[in-house]
Amino acid sequence: MAIELVTTVTGLQAASARLLAARSGASQALVPTMGALHEGHAALARAAVENNDVVVASIFVNPLQFGDATDLDRYPRTLEADLALLEAEGVDLVFAPSVDEVYPGGEPLVRLTSGRLGDKWEGASRPGHFDGALTVVAKLLHYGTPAAGLAAGALTPSAGAALPAYRAYFGQKDAQQLALVRRMVADLNFPVEIVGVPTVRSAEGLALSSRNRFLSPAERDAALVLSRALRLLQERANAREPLDLGSAQALVASQPLVELDYFDVVDPRTLEPLAENCRETPFSGEALALIAAKVGPVRLIDNLPLSS
Ligand code: PAF
Repeated sequence: MAIELVTTVTGLQAASARLLAARSGASQALVPTMGALHEGHAALARAAVENNDVVVASIFVNPLQFGDATDLDRYPRTLEADLALLEAEGVDLVFAPSVDEVYPGGEPLVRLTSGRLGDKWEGASRPGHFDGALTVVAKLLHYGTPAAGLAAGALTPSAGAALPAYRAYFGQKDAQQLALVRRMVADLNFPVEIVGVPTVRSAEGLALSSRNRFLSPAERDAALVLSRALRLLQERANAREPLDLGSAQALVASQPLVELDYFDVVDPRTLEPLAENCRETPFSGEALALIAAKVGPVRLIDNLPLSS
């Protein structure tokens, strides 16, 4: 079936309710994106299509989560190619609203605050970023809920029937965003299941990102040290050896085109650094290795789960 493009909230809710009713659907999914889609987004869409009756992807470059206007202007807009990618994955509906549709009263006076979990790591170098991202994710989750179809009168389930299941898909590449969205949904009782989808990498190991297109060939090569250093930690964790973070940090520092911001091993839920002794004694348990660096003009982030 051809993909449908809607640009208004009412259009989205009417179209998703119609599809859900036509398919007697038991589940609806949302894949929030900012467009400039690549294989990583295709993996999100694929996971959503595999497990849900109706799948909506949103494409919205959210001004609230950009620190400066240049970065916002520079963000690639590739709607035609994005639609083709989503259609090939079997997504039913694309919601691509204008800024006015999402923020009809201009910048919202009230917005979510990401708190302690949002102040560190990426939040430390991008003040306000996660408040803006959570605020729009909350709005998108409300727009995309199958319950909205009921409210609009477009869906009439039989008495006593359960509401369709509702799932939203996020990439594990943005580990801090995923942890924050999970906390938001738990702390504020959003009726949606958050599904994390593993990072997709190039054959050489570079985590796919819309920003990779701004890397020169030499910078792209240099950026491979990030995933190499993460893999080193993963191998040590798998072997139940001490992680020896210092030597992995030295590996990154040896690459002149890479300016390291942070590289640490944290608790996957709280994102608090693990106690020093976990790094020097044989590794056991679950952790997340996080890294961020500037490579040429581009800030890159990556992470790998550690477990043994
Ligand atoms: O990860 C992204 O692309 C964005 O932060 C999101 C979740 C679509 C919110 O704007």
